[in-house]
Amino acid sequence: MERIKLAIERARAQAGAPQAAPAWEPRTIDLPPLPRETMDAVPMDLVRLDPFHLQQHRIVGLDQGNPLRQSFDLLRTQVLQRMQEHGWRTIAVTSPSMASGKTVVSINLAMSIAHHPSKTSLLVDFDLRRPSVATYLGLPVGNSLNEVLAGEVDVGSAIVNAGIPGFQVLATQHRVTGAADVLASDGVSHLIKGLRDASPDRIVVIDLPPVTAVDDVIAVLPRVDCVLVVIGSGSSTTREIEETKRHLARFNVLGVAVNMAPLTMANSGYY
Ligand SMILES: Nc1ncnc2c1ncn2[C@@H]1O[C@H](COP(=O)(O)OP(=O)(O)OP(=O)(O)O)[C@@H](O)[C@H]1O
Ligand SMILES: [Mg+2]
Repeated sequence: MERIKLAIERARAQAGAPQAAPAWEPRTIDLPPLPRETMDAVPMDLVRLDPFHLQQHRIVGLDQGNPLRQSFDLLRTQVLQRMQEHGWRTIAVTSPSMASGKTVVSINLAMSIAHHPSKTSLLVDFDLRRPSVATYLGLPVGNSLNEVLAGEVDVGSAIVNAGIPGFQVLATQHRVTGAADVLASDGVSHLIKGLRDASPDRIVVIDLPPVTAVDDVIAVLPRVDCVLVVIGSGSSTTREIEETKRHLARFNVLGVAVNMAPLTMANSGYY
């Protein structure tokens, strides 16, 4: 009996005693970060974009050697920094007047964001009167924002994985009547919120018409976190710029990008 008691006491003492050090030390192995290509599984349905077609429309997202890429990467860095400071994840692109390069800037900015190691982008064509994102990218005809707005398909089936991993497009294939009413609707409000909330890494870039031409911009901006104003160098009058400032006064203007600047205005000749 005494021997059993002794054995129990010994076992208890051993259980409370500090563990003997193992004969080997577990090793920590530092793995290098995985390259972006490995982390982003290339989507099965990635639509290939034609580099020559893109080049003709001044889209430089696939053209690594193009010096304009640097300008857009610089713009992207500034945009992302400001958006992060405020926790913003949706950005609209507009301008005081037509043909300032909004769509070219929207597409290149969205592609540059997709190249960022920790971000993805979704470009939405909300220029419902003169949609041109699908044409500039050379996207095949398929489900688009038109069918989503008509309630014919769900938004997931209208989003296209385009050209590079992390770059998605919700294009508009043909013009929509009653654009301002559509943009001011609850449906569009829910749509934008849903697109933003689908992924915390996603930045939603929204291509819009000019501020001064129609009231579409004012209709949709309350649903968007911030707005980037593109001014085509020499293409907007002082009056249009003043009017734009007045219209945008109550929204978060993230900044102004000067497009089509002469070479003397910037190193790259673009900004
Ligand atoms: N930096 C630039 N230098 C020269 N041409 C440019 C530049 N940026 C855009 N363009 C050209 O200007 C034209 C208008 O560009 P874009 O369609 O992007 O303008 P927009 O402001 O979106 O026009 P809209 O008001 O019709 O929507 C296009 O032919 C485009 O290739
Ligand atoms: Mg446009």
